[in-house]
Amino acid sequence: MGNNRYKVAVVGATGAVGETMLAILAERQFPAGAVVAIASERSAGMQVAFGDDALVVQDLATFDPAGIDIALFSAGGSISKEYAPKFAEAGAVVIDNSSAFRYDDDVPLVVSEVNPEAARNRPRGIIANPNCSTMQLMPVLAPIHREYGIERVNVATYQSVSGGGRSAMEELGRQTAQLLNFQDIQPAKFPVQIAFNLIPQIDEFQPNGYTKEEMKLVWETQKILGDASIQVNPTAVRVPVFYGHSEAVNVETRRKITPEQARELLRAAPGVEVVDEQRAGGYPTPVTHASGKDPVFVGRIREDFSHPRGLNLWVVADNIRKGAALNAVQIAELLVVEGLEPKTRTA
Ligand code: A2P
Repeated sequence: MGNNRYKVAVVGATGAVGETMLAILAERQFPAGAVVAIASERSAGMQVAFGDDALVVQDLATFDPAGIDIALFSAGGSISKEYAPKFAEAGAVVIDNSSAFRYDDDVPLVVSEVNPEAARNRPRGIIANPNCSTMQLMPVLAPIHREYGIERVNVATYQSVSGGGRSAMEELGRQTAQLLNFQDIQPAKFPVQIAFNLIPQIDEFQPNGYTKEEMKLVWETQKILGDASIQVNPTAVRVPVFYGHSEAVNVETRRKITPEQARELLRAAPGVEVVDEQRAGGYPTPVTHASGKDPVFVGRIREDFSHPRGLNLWVVADNIRKGAALNAVQIAELLVVEGLEPKTRTA
């Protein structure tokens, strides 16, 4: 790493993911010589926290990307489509948290523990960060796939509202307070009431009857594990939880894997923590384990007694941290290890 100090931009710095990107850059002491917080004109001039410091938010529309080494984008797909190529043309490596480029063949889709080598091949100067629901599955599925071969995955997600951004969290809080006060609620961000309810729709419906959030799990799993033969059958559900996504996962492997073999494999898997005791509370939940934490937690590991090569798992992670901001910073750390040259050297 030497004395390399990078100029880092966070685009979407006032958002739920952006503010956590800043927090994690500070927490992990990323070798940044300067950090620039960027958002829309609405927030320009406001201050956001970066460790013990405060950064003044810059307006993306008028910001000059010259001199930026690494840009972390989390301001939505349309903003990424318009501005990420401009930052890349100015010489920055863009790490993009939106779905704008994830399925392009010339943009790597990287989970730091699973396919870090893919980050080196970035002809457009853009590296994509996977969707949160795929992200937390990968550190768990990758070792199982490597050792036992995965044929098929059935997954039902229980996704917290923070995945929908700050306005989605505000909507859950507002509706909860209104309903407890016997007031009527008006859904705005979500299609129907989210407080005290579940919504089996995240993102738009596709012609095949699945939602886009569900199809992301299919496309991204195959791309990250580098195996288009893996069958994925997802159902994505929004639940009234603030932070932490959960997933009930059923895996069919080529070679039989026992629960004990799975526990052993997953205990050794980077970024994964096994919490699997058959007693009340001996499993991970979003509130008790995941919220505010880095690892992906796995529990309820058991044989699928309806299938000769089936295994059941319960996978929980903080969707804002490992599901988005942490992985983006870990990709930035891969660039440091790779020896990315900063534009300006400091002694
Ligand atoms: P702003 O606060 O200025 O609107 P979240 O997903 O939590 O809602 O956050 C979205 C992030 O994307 C925010 O930081 C938001 O900034 C930013 N953003 C939204 N629209 C734009 C835009 N047109 N230009 C720059 N940043 C934007």
